[in-house]
Amino acid sequence: MAQWVYAKDLADHAGEHVTIKGWLYNHTDKGGLQFLLVRDGTGVVQCVASEKDISAEAFDEARRVTQESSLIVTGKVRSDARAPGGYEIQSDDVRIVQLTEDYPITPKEHGTAFLMANRHLWIRSAKQHATLLVRAEIVKAIRDWLDSHDFVNVDTPILTPSSCEDTTTLFETDYFGEPAYLAQSGQLYNEANIAAFGKVYCFGPTFRAEKSKTRRHLTEFWMVEPEMAFVDLEGCMEVEEQFVSYIVQTVLQNRSAELELLERDTSRLEKVVPPFPRISYDEAVDLLTKHGLSFTWGDDFGAPHETAIGESFDQPVFVYNYPTRCKAFYMEEHPTRPDVCLSVDLLAAEGYGEIIGGGQRTASYELLERRIREHNLNREAYEWYLDLRRYGSMPHSGFGLGVERTVAWVCGLKHIRETIAFPRMLERIYP
Ligand code: 4AD
Ligand code: MG
Repeated sequence: MAQWVYAKDLADHAGEHVTIKGWLYNHTDKGGLQFLLVRDGTGVVQCVASEKDISAEAFDEARRVTQESSLIVTGKVRSDARAPGGYEIQSDDVRIVQLTEDYPITPKEHGTAFLMANRHLWIRSAKQHATLLVRAEIVKAIRDWLDSHDFVNVDTPILTPSSCEDTTTLFETDYFGEPAYLAQSGQLYNEANIAAFGKVYCFGPTFRAEKSKTRRHLTEFWMVEPEMAFVDLEGCMEVEEQFVSYIVQTVLQNRSAELELLERDTSRLEKVVPPFPRISYDEAVDLLTKHGLSFTWGDDFGAPHETAIGESFDQPVFVYNYPTRCKAFYMEEHPTRPDVCLSVDLLAAEGYGEIIGGGQRTASYELLERRIREHNLNREAYEWYLDLRRYGSMPHSGFGLGVERTVAWVCGLKHIRETIAFPRMLERIYP
């Protein structure tokens, strides 16, 4: 029996008799020679079937196999400079597991709507496959960095009785007769968890009923949220720049082939090393004015503003001290300027905009109580959160990094919809 091997390991089996199991990626018919490119999830292998070397039955299978048919090929691994990866299989058996007919995605150009409707098949295509491998690398780098820097992973609930961010983007559901909401963020629970563990993170799907169609918004996205006791705004930025640099440098190191396939210009990513530039919101507003963009102090930045700010720097840039009125209720007040808060966003270059939102949280019971009132939040649902300011309150900070925005930036994708296997958007819940 030939040993079943994966495409990525083919070079380790030179000269051996092996089996490859996968799907037909491409087929070249040269009469007595059939060239089959077989995809197995880990890579692509060229399998050559020669009429004179194999049974008539096996040769017939090789001749009639169609794009995306599942198949099993057995043969000898030999080096060939012309084959992808430098090795190919000289087949002695070809068996079709299932013959595919009329595969909808062909090498010709398809429109985005068609590809999105066929997302369950589109993920097999080379660029989609590469993007999702980069995503997996990013997720691993996130966990590796946090786990090795004493952050304890404590996950937070998805069904919640209250909101963390903008109440207009809540998904409401019925929880046995009571209204409940899908989590927009795990932050408030993280703030409870730090008093038990010091440094924590939650990592999971978060939900926002975003009514706008943009290239940066999903309704379901993954967010990693570190939170740290006794850390101020400055300390928070230091952690963020170490964390983001590690993620980017790890992908450059481990996924260079995928970035090349995606035609990503990696020179910008190579510059992602600490420290990152830091500017205040006030300075960012000056910068926008200099760029000739009209902007009113107190407003939140829109996509064109974030792009202009991001483009002014070589590296991701921190913008801190946003106006209190454009940020969430939990932001710590600036010690001398109550009109601004100790928030910080990290904006990526090349038009990718905000990839991290965070900052220092309100430590004072009185201020938090006032903010809950000012934001018209249902106080009862936040009683437990107020408790955190009753029993051992302390300065603390944290942030949330959006996985899909990070993948789009690292891969250089125009639209966030390709950064997750099955994106959920305003007008899409199928497949
Ligand atoms: O700035 P946001 O709303 O911050 C929070 O939710 C904080 N509670 C996080 C914290 O401090 N623990 O969201 C954080 C990040 C954004 O910077 C962005 O990367 C991503 O989450 N994000 C989205 N990604 C895709 N689609 C959306 N609709 C997103 N909304 C936010
Ligand atoms: Mg934000």
